Amino acid sequence: MTVCSNLLPLPIPSTQDAARCPPRGSAALGILALCSLLSLGGCGSSATPNGSGAGGMGAGTGGMAATGGTGSGAATGTGGTGDGGLTLKEVYQPYFPIGAAIAPSHLTTVKDILVTHFNRITAENDMKFGIVSTGEGTYDWSAADELADFARENDMAMTGHALVWHRQTPSWLFSGLTAENADDIETLKGRMKAHIDTIVPRYDDVVDNWDVVNEAISDDPAVDFRDGSESDYFRIFGSEDYVYWAFKYAYDALEAIEPGNAEGKLYYNDYNVTLKVDRIIALCDWVKEQGVPVHGIGLQQHVRIDWPSTAEIGAAIDKITAAGYAVKISELDVTVYNDYPAGELEPAPEVEFTPALEAEHAQRYANLFALYREHADDITSVTFWGVSDAHTWLDDEPVAGRTNYPLLWDANHEPKDALDAVLNF
Ligand code: GLA
Repeated sequence: MTVCSNLLPLPIPSTQDAARCPPRGSAALGILALCSLLSLGGCGSSATPNGSGAGGMGAGTGGMAATGGTGSGAATGTGGTGDGGLTLKEVYQPYFPIGAAIAPSHLTTVKDILVTHFNRITAENDMKFGIVSTGEGTYDWSAADELADFARENDMAMTGHALVWHRQTPSWLFSGLTAENADDIETLKGRMKAHIDTIVPRYDDVVDNWDVVNEAISDDPAVDFRDGSESDYFRIFGSEDYVYWAFKYAYDALEAIEPGNAEGKLYYNDYNVTLKVDRIIALCDWVKEQGVPVHGIGLQQHVRIDWPSTAEIGAAIDKITAAGYAVKISELDVTVYNDYPAGELEPAPEVEFTPALEAEHAQRYANLFALYREHADDITSVTFWGVSDAHTWLDDEPVAGRTNYPLLWDANHEPKDALDAVLNF
């Protein structure tokens, strides 16, 4: 119990995701209770700790973006600058590129902030398998293309998120497949490969790295992998072998475009990396031992103000770099709530974002960026999971409808103290 007592609330599945979640077994629920992982809203509730949320994000859904938004980019302005009038991407030019995870609605609500302060983007949801797929072999690329075109027009790079993840998968992907059946494993491999062979070349000109596998490691510290009770990939394969195949297909797809094209682009991505780092490194090492490269590890960094400590995050980064992997900060936001005060989900009451809380929140960002700057030689990018508090998955997870304040701009797209803390050091 104690071991998990300060787990961060993890991301949650979106409404779409919830609909696709497999029923949770009692064993999984037991682990959850034990570890006090996230309660995932719609997904059978507790389940997957996952957080992953993902997609969660329900946030992603339009409703959120609507709160507090002031409309067009022009109305929002460019959102403040640091000493000497420098923007985020300019201040961090000597350190690392600065990204934001966005939905197409951001191209209206915070377009000027994006263009002014960021030099890369990630699709918050719109490149996920379950979002782009309309059936086996058929796709709707409209939202993903809109984001990619925005990146191209504004000279931004993208992170491709994500090729293989147990959440937000299309319903047909596992349909008709029996667990641990050799023919069905081949069928699933074929479906994974076909998807990877389709999406990777489509965005190769703008995506400079892929989250090849997202969140394969268990939240239970005593277990290595998220097993068949949470991941249909694991359930059908009967093992973590799907991770190897994902990296192999991604590597092959990139190299087929041009030899050498895969270099530096293949990442494993996860949350609570301070708790999972040894198992993540072991998994990536195992893939490499099979002859397929893994270049880096993404730390999502959905963090609380009080956890994990910068010392813990720094120690995880040191382990990753010592093992020979690049690091990216892939999904940064700082919740103002602690919903797990004693290890079990105990939703915190809604708070006002008082000047005192804003100062604490800004100090946390200052400390995180001081740490990232110290490790700049090993960090390939830092990406926020959103832009302004008008649109954040944390307004719905793990407590639906509770306002959160996790980002650098407020719900009216005005600069917060956190922006100042990151810009001026
Ligand atoms: C996870 C996923 C993201 C996003 C976030 C927030 O960490 O990787 O795609 O959904 O959760 O919910």
